[in-house]
Amino acid sequence: MEKREMLYEGKAKKVFKTDDPDLYVVEYKDDATAFNGQKRERIAGKGELNNKISALFFELLREKGVESHYVRRLSDTEQLVRRVTIIPLEVVVRNIAAGSLSKRLGWEEGRELPRPVVEFYYKNDELGDPLINESHIAVLGVAPPDQLDDITTQALKVNEILTAYLRERGILLVDFKLEFGLDSGGRVLLADEISPDTCRFWDAATKEKLDKDRFRRDLGGVERAYEEVLHRLGGR
Ligand code: TMP
Ligand code: ASP
Repeated sequence: MEKREMLYEGKAKKVFKTDDPDLYVVEYKDDATAFNGQKRERIAGKGELNNKISALFFELLREKGVESHYVRRLSDTEQLVRRVTIIPLEVVVRNIAAGSLSKRLGWEEGRELPRPVVEFYYKNDELGDPLINESHIAVLGVAPPDQLDDITTQALKVNEILTAYLRERGILLVDFKLEFGLDSGGRVLLADEISPDTCRFWDAATKEKLDKDRFRRDLGGVERAYEEVLHRLGGR
């Protein structure tokens, strides 16, 4: 497998072609952004930590029967993935009130939700990734109902697997964001990343934040928190 030209550069990752048209290389960057790119910073070591954490989660999910675009980790900052066409949805699953749900419903951060909440955001930077519902998704033609059902079922399964796994390691999975793609056969496949950039992780005992909220809210200690997550996953 040979790494070829860059196809796309996002806020936190770069995607490269390879000599195999069905395989891409994803490189995790040290850049952090928040609030639709308005707040930016370089956090030394973040790319490596997110690459390793994401790889471990995708490997766990594969073991538990949830396939994803992830093939294998190639280096400290790179992983090999299968080519998918990303469905322009951010699928958020929540177990505990925080962030935008706390604002929307007026529920204080930390209040346990009686059941998991699944939300869809339309991936569109110009619109600021608005919250949308199933009717909007149908009207936009983003995904047909059977695909959306598949996405929802997979997202809830990921939630069950990760919640149980993290609880054993003293971490509460507050909420997280997933993205899905279609492979060449039209199959819905979990994609993107699963890392402290895209999840809220709280220490179960102290409720200390071990995720990107440390950056969003200027709490400091971002790298140390991400290192703690990797450490609890047995990765370092
Ligand atoms: P929210 O409470 O700000 O809506 O975030 C919900 C979850 O989604 C949280 O775990 C962080 C994650 N997230 C992303 O991964 N990317 C984003 O652009 C946003 C807004 C949230
Ligand atoms: N990464 C997103 C952005 O730059 C937002 C976030 O994760 O808070 O807009």
